[in-house]
Amino acid sequence: MNGLPRRYHITTFGCQMNKADSERMAGILEDMGFEWSENPQNANLIVYNTCTIRDNAEQKVYSYLGRQAKRKHQEPDLTLVVAGCVAQQEGQALLRRVPELDLVMGPQYANRLKDLLDSVFAGNQVVATEEVHILEDITQPRRDSRVTAWVNVIYGCNERCTYCVVPNVRGVEQSRTPEAIRGEMEILGQQGYREITLLGQNIDAYGRDLPGSTAEGRHLYTFTDLLYYVHDVPGIERIRFATSHPRYFTERLIKACAELPKICEHFHIPFQSGDNEILKAMSRGYTQEKYRRIINTIRSYMPDASISADAIVGFPGETEIQFENTLQLVDDIGFDHLNTAAYSPRPGTPAALWDNQLSEEIKSDRLQRLNHLVNVKAAQRSQRYLGRMEEVLVEDQNPKDQSQVMGRTRGNRLAFFQGDINQLRGKMVRVQIQEVRAFSLSGDLVE
Ligand code: SAH
Ligand code: SF4
Ligand code: F3S
Repeated sequence: MNGLPRRYHITTFGCQMNKADSERMAGILEDMGFEWSENPQNANLIVYNTCTIRDNAEQKVYSYLGRQAKRKHQEPDLTLVVAGCVAQQEGQALLRRVPELDLVMGPQYANRLKDLLDSVFAGNQVVATEEVHILEDITQPRRDSRVTAWVNVIYGCNERCTYCVVPNVRGVEQSRTPEAIRGEMEILGQQGYREITLLGQNIDAYGRDLPGSTAEGRHLYTFTDLLYYVHDVPGIERIRFATSHPRYFTERLIKACAELPKICEHFHIPFQSGDNEILKAMSRGYTQEKYRRIINTIRSYMPDASISADAIVGFPGETEIQFENTLQLVDDIGFDHLNTAAYSPRPGTPAALWDNQLSEEIKSDRLQRLNHLVNVKAAQRSQRYLGRMEEVLVEDQNPKDQSQVMGRTRGNRLAFFQGDINQLRGKMVRVQIQEVRAFSLSGDLVE
């Protein structure tokens, strides 16, 4: 590789955590002198940052990997890295399946990429999947956007939802300190970022693993405390957060969101099922009645708040009537957005071993019926924007129409309008909404 430019490529699968990890790994690689290559075929170091939440996510990784493993037989200098959740789940087994791999690293190792690669370049084949303390991020992430940024607040998850692989692959909860989080946000504000999304698999768990107590003597420093602590960072105009867990979601948090002007009125609170028996089998720790109460409380403080969620259909043993309870909840609440999935049995999770699994036919039929309802409801929810003046933070050009720019409303709806991205990027503007679709809006800039 002497003298030649060293090019890297990262393909990211899965959730926002993986996207944030990829941005940090990219920052480390650029620090090491690598240059970004959009095309993996032109890269001599490739990272697949993988997801295993459902079987189809995992299988996708193997097909990508197969192609690059073949290429390595012609180009022995190619370095192949599998990072993220499949790496953590499979560990050594991945090397047996794809011996061409140089490095298999779990998500907790993202910030340690340089050390791991040093070992690879010294001639080793490396597997890093031991649970470790996540290093405080001292690198400069290479962020995809110049306007919006992710900031991790808590890693891992201590819940044990019976369908979910995340606790196995992301490890136990590790909260960053409030000072580290605020520090990162202050730098982002100085760099011109306008919007921050605070990230955690179960963000309501923030703080419960932090040592010591707060000044007020409360023994626990909570996510709500964190919001009060970071909400006034100069330059940052909007703050979002995800993901919320109905089991721990508090009225105090809702009040904080209503009170603090920079916190956007958008809540992502997965309910997973509208049936209490299924919620119990999932070990979610709440009832559908409690979920409805949370949404009602949010709407009593912020009538226009956007609500989004995740739901699973076809969980083991789910009857037609139990599925209809999910439809009923979706119909009653009227989500702005809903991520839906058919249940997929995952290795190392309790529900995968139960003998009451449903057929693929039933699962895909229920998924279709739910998706149909979701689209109808989202289109209805969009109607409320028609003719309204919305605050939009401009992020980018509309990839489908260069004469337009795009951004998001406070409620997280995509909005398009005519404008020049060079003048508008990062600007908070007012847009008169003229056209609404289920998941996006169009309008005119109001000078
Ligand atoms: N921490 C978040 C969710 C993380 S995983 C929470 O507690 O809600 C993202 C979503 O994937 C989940 O909300 C769930 O809807 C879906 N999911 C997780 N495991 C799944 C499985 N085995 N089959 C189908 N969907 C699953
Ligand atoms: Fe998975 Fe449940 Fe943790 Fe969410 S809260 S990541 S669904 S175990
Ligand atoms: Fe997937 Fe791992 Fe996220 S399994 S959803 S990338 S935490």
